[in-house]
Amino acid sequence: MTLKLTINGQEHELAVPPQIPLLNVLRNDLALNGPKYGCGLGECGACSVLIDGMAARTCVLPVSAAVGHEVTTLDGLSQNGELDPVQQAFIDAQAAQCGYCLNGMIITVRALLNHNTQPSAQQIRTALEHNLCRCGTHVEILQAAERAVI
Ligand code: FES
Repeated sequence: MTLKLTINGQEHELAVPPQIPLLNVLRNDLALNGPKYGCGLGECGACSVLIDGMAARTCVLPVSAAVGHEVTTLDGLSQNGELDPVQQAFIDAQAAQCGYCLNGMIITVRALLNHNTQPSAQQIRTALEHNLCRCGTHVEILQAAERAVI
């Protein structure tokens, strides 16, 4: 079965089983390694992408669910060589320790800013409360997210 996907503005036709997780297709078939495999259970957020501007967890999302939607991965956030302001804010705040969770953190903050350009500190905290960081750099991550608010 062939599925048509739109990922980072590009059309792809892929012969993949419709029920496999979108994460597997992104990483294994398209070499888009921004999304990470963390828990595989939809709990940690490491595998997040934007689907029509909203954050989605691709380890538990069948690839067929992305058909007809615009998928944006971390790899696709930068435009014309310019990092997305959220990416830049995370660099400026030195928010990473191991960095494994940052895909999910950045995607979640981007999704928040897509529908609320001026979130409060509490709204940022709430948006990120289901994204896990095993290194415990939550303070820096929250500071980075606040820097991203223009
Ligand atoms: Fe998908 Fe953890 S790897 S939520």
